[in-house]
Amino acid sequence: MKKDDIYAKPMDPLPSFSFNEKVADVFDDMISRSVPCYKETQMLIANSALNFYQEGTTIYDLGCSTGETLKTISQLSSKINKMIGIDYSLPMIEKAKIKCKDISNIRFVYDDVLNIKFENTSVVILNYLLQFMTIPKRVELLINIKESLLPNGAVVIFEKIVSKNFKNDFINIHELFKEQQGYSKMEIKQKREALENVLVPLTYEENKKLIQDAGFTKVEKCFQYLNFCGIMCS
Ligand SMILES: C[S@@+](CC[C@H](N)C(=O)[O-])C[C@H]1O[C@@H](n2cnc3c(N)ncnc32)[C@H](O)[C@@H]1O
Repeated sequence: MKKDDIYAKPMDPLPSFSFNEKVADVFDDMISRSVPCYKETQMLIANSALNFYQEGTTIYDLGCSTGETLKTISQLSSKINKMIGIDYSLPMIEKAKIKCKDISNIRFVYDDVLNIKFENTSVVILNYLLQFMTIPKRVELLINIKESLLPNGAVVIFEKIVSKNFKNDFINIHELFKEQQGYSKMEIKQKREALENVLVPLTYEENKKLIQDAGFTKVEKCFQYLNFCGIMCS
């Protein structure tokens, strides 16, 4: 796994964060050192997918990046009919294709998730995707998913959220976690600034409302570590 040192040197001007080639190259290291419990939540997502999967149907992973989630599912079960990962970053899709080249039931599609016509869908995974979309696009996507989901199907969403009561404390504690993962204070500060207006988090309650407004009637938090939250809905 290539080490993430993108923000290790001072950058002036500091470009806005994007899922470009440089980021795709170090993404697996970046996300596992930046998102607390990343490995554990991959397992939680994979086991949830297996729980809701219906024989002969398709599992979609939206904003799949390098394909880690679908690879994890395939390691836990060989019985899935079809899995489709979608991402609008070509370098990410290329990495995902290489990572999963020997897994025949996984296909990766280079496209915007809003262009996808979901078919025969029992499970949809959105692992840290919505936060990168505008609010109207989040709503549009959630409605598209809800309208295509098979009865008893489910959606697993993970989002970075904003704490209502401990906003700055959660951010500070998360930054301590990142320092303990080997990032310097300067790297943390530059990445935070690069992500401003690119990653736009909502509170859990705001996310829940968007999901309910899209037509989901069962919405429940299944994970939280500081400002990282998992939500299950159907
Ligand atoms: C934080 S990463 C997701 C991490 C990944 N799901 C995982 O489990 O490791 C967000 C991904 O969403 C993709 N993305 C953001 N908006 C998108 C959109 N509208 N359509 C397709 N992909 C999108 C980005 O290119 C990026 O690869």
